[in-house]
Amino acid sequence: MRLFNNLATVALSSFVTLASATILQNGQVRDVLFPDTQIATVTGNDSAWTSYPPSASGISYKGSAPGLKFGFTGDKVALSFGEHTSPGVLVGYRLDGQDWEFTNVTAGATHQFVSASTPGFDMADDAGAPDTLRTFELYVSNWAFGVQVVGVHVAAGGQLVGLPNFARKVEVIGDSIASGMYDTYESMAGWAWDLGAGLGNVEFGVTAYPGICLVDQDCWGNPRGQAFQWFRASDTSPRARQMYGELSEQAEMWDFESKQPADLVIVHLGTNDNNTANNVPPGLYYDTYVEFVGKVHEVWPQAQIILVGLWNGFSRVGSTWREVGAFVEDIYRVYEYYSEEGYVHYFNTTGILQHNDIAPQYHPTDVGQIKVASHLMQYVKNTFGWDFGATGPEVQHETLYWNDQEAY
Ligand SMILES: *[C@@H]1O[C@H](CO)[C@@H](O)[C@H](O)[C@H]1NC(C)=O
Ligand SMILES: *[C@@H]1O[C@H](CO)[C@@H](O)[C@H](O)[C@H]1NC(C)=O
Ligand SMILES: *[C@@H]1O[C@H](CO)[C@@H](O)[C@H](O)[C@H]1NC(C)=O
Ligand SMILES: *[C@@H]1O[C@H](CO)[C@@H](O)[C@H](O)[C@H]1NC(C)=O
Repeated sequence: MRLFNNLATVALSSFVTLASATILQNGQVRDVLFPDTQIATVTGNDSAWTSYPPSASGISYKGSAPGLKFGFTGDKVALSFGEHTSPGVLVGYRLDGQDWEFTNVTAGATHQFVSASTPGFDMADDAGAPDTLRTFELYVSNWAFGVQVVGVHVAAGGQLVGLPNFARKVEVIGDSIASGMYDTYESMAGWAWDLGAGLGNVEFGVTAYPGICLVDQDCWGNPRGQAFQWFRASDTSPRARQMYGELSEQAEMWDFESKQPADLVIVHLGTNDNNTANNVPPGLYYDTYVEFVGKVHEVWPQAQIILVGLWNGFSRVGSTWREVGAFVEDIYRVYEYYSEEGYVHYFNTTGILQHNDIAPQYHPTDVGQIKVASHLMQYVKNTFGWDFGATGPEVQHETLYWNDQEAY
């Protein structure tokens, strides 16, 4: 969770080229060209730049992918990355409501993301005015990687401007499926992103780790389950364990009090508990789930909590296919346990996905993730009366599939 912290700037060299990278799509190389954004080190306020420390009040850190967002004036934005930046990590970023762009960033380097030639820069209504307020956002695309921001730079004469948070907040507690594992842009392609960014008018956090169980035990390399780890400041990735130490009973608690409370919590856990490889004793999943929901309610007594049903893949039955399901009854029983209280809801996923929405590595495809998110968005709208706020700008990148031939 806590992937950003404040250390002194470390810096390196510069060059400007285009870097090609590899995204494999159905085993074929997808043609992507990520611009190389690295520039010469920016060390502080000078004739070209106005610099801010990572602690500047205008910067809003987001727990979503994770990422950050701020407003600025002037015609450029650069960030300096510290030593705890995963080498070559792919980040998504955008100016205002322009399409997402992706670039690999480097530890100890400064990268420029916005200039006057950035697509859309001169398209604002009052783009000519030096005090035009623009928005910049950046997110890390991979659940296991992170960046450490050690400096934020805008044009000399420009300013960093804080943007208000959205009034509502969504928290997703999940595993690899919500993390977008094996999806094209990973964290920025999982259903949790598709939902949060897709609602468009909410803050959202995603606390989701591939392989993790709900039950507090080692599952596929995660030393603890979400029943323990969700309440702690560090996460279970090797990078976080290196930075914050092993998760133990002494691990620092996450400071929920100081953060915007969630209005809606969505729990999507159990696919790993349901796998025989992890040997979760029968009955423990249900008991843990009941207790967990109660504890989440203690953290945010005003929050609504949605329990997501688990499809758990599809298998051939005769000459057709059937959803396998995991803990289907148990999750419904957890909902029933709390149904009188009114704040727990059950989201039935059966029939949203079909067998070809699951990729060979057992996770939903980009399309599958979008289907789950779209149904969940409508569920949230119908159940809680929330409106949709993403009414134009891109949410999912490179999902434009079309046909421009006729009569074939
Ligand atoms: C640079 O100037 C801005 C605006 O005057 C100021 O807020 C900021 O603290 C300065 N940065 C440094 C690193 O001195
Ligand atoms: C950029 O990131 C992608 C995704 O992690 C990776 O496949 C690619 O190798 C990286 N490219 C560079 C030049 O580091
Ligand atoms: C997984 O869940 C199903 C119910 O949907 C249950 O029959 C099965 O025993 C569970 N398997 C494990 C390993 O927990
Ligand atoms: C979930 O939906 C499926 C398909 O519509 C239905 O058969 C099943 O009864 C539903 N489960 C619950 C608990 O409502």
